Amino acid sequence: MNNAHGVAKKSGDGQATGDSATGGSANGGSVSNGSALRLANVSRSFGTLEVFRGLDLEIGHGEFVAIVGPSGCGKTTLLNLLSGYDEPSSGTVTRAGAVRMVYQHDGLFPWLTAAGNIELGLRHIAAAAERKRQLDELLTLIRLENFAAHYPHQLSGGMRQRVEIARALAGDSDILLLDEPFSALDYLTRLRLRGELARLLRERPRTVVFVTHDIEEAAHLADRIVVLSERPARICCELRLDLERPRDLTHPVVVDAVKRILDVMGLRAAPA
Ligand SMILES: Nc1ncnc2c1ncn2[C@@H]1O[C@H](COP(=O)(O)OP(=O)(O)OP(=O)(O)O)[C@@H](O)[C@H]1O
Ligand SMILES: [Mg+2]
Repeated sequence: MNNAHGVAKKSGDGQATGDSATGGSANGGSVSNGSALRLANVSRSFGTLEVFRGLDLEIGHGEFVAIVGPSGCGKTTLLNLLSGYDEPSSGTVTRAGAVRMVYQHDGLFPWLTAAGNIELGLRHIAAAAERKRQLDELLTLIRLENFAAHYPHQLSGGMRQRVEIARALAGDSDILLLDEPFSALDYLTRLRLRGELARLLRERPRTVVFVTHDIEEAAHLADRIVVLSERPARICCELRLDLERPRDLTHPVVVDAVKRILDVMGLRAAPA
């Protein structure tokens, strides 16, 4: 069905009352119930700063979930918990499959060139010629063919971000965690990379959790948009978009989803 489903409100204690994925118990390492990622009753505090309290979130295999929410509410912390880089203060995090994270700020190895960084993601390919072919393809994709031998400090912020994206896409991980991966890019490059991401996911389906401040970007790409509240962050609403990718930015489903999220976040201008 080609329309955005209604906003499914969550109750204050973080329990899903809408259309979250289904059941099974957390088992401390892998999930056997068809979910790729699952947070069960997760709390995380840094000293007295309570970021999450009793958060539940379940993400299905191959699902593309966008996370939006105010700055400082805990989006990066959420990805760190999902990746296993950080541990919850209480509750359980389970994941099924290899995880690759694209960090909000530089995650490149400064001692490796752009090509060297991307090649790290291609280590699973045994044949050198195939590795080279894929490296060239990725460099072309991110339009950095002429910068393969440059080190990260010789690249602009947007170029470094593109190298990170290429490295993540090169990998054979089942789950991609992307922390504002397009934030340093100009609008046209963002549009192009959104399209490429959609294309690559069709070729090689993966589970994606995509943090963004850009509501249009979330609606352009995601199967489900999860909106977080201020700290302690809870899921204040979820929106599902049942529409094939790549999507036309002006498709009514996309436009309607943007409107709904702006409404939920109180960001729509009152009519004059
Ligand atoms: N390692 C840490 N030690 C102490 N406090 C932390 C740590 N990591 C995050 N925080 C705090 O947790 C809160 C959430 O941070 P987080 O980076 O997850 O926010 P965010 O939603 O990603 O913000 P932004 O949109 O600005 O990237 C912030 O108040 C931050 O100061
Ligand atoms: Mg962040």
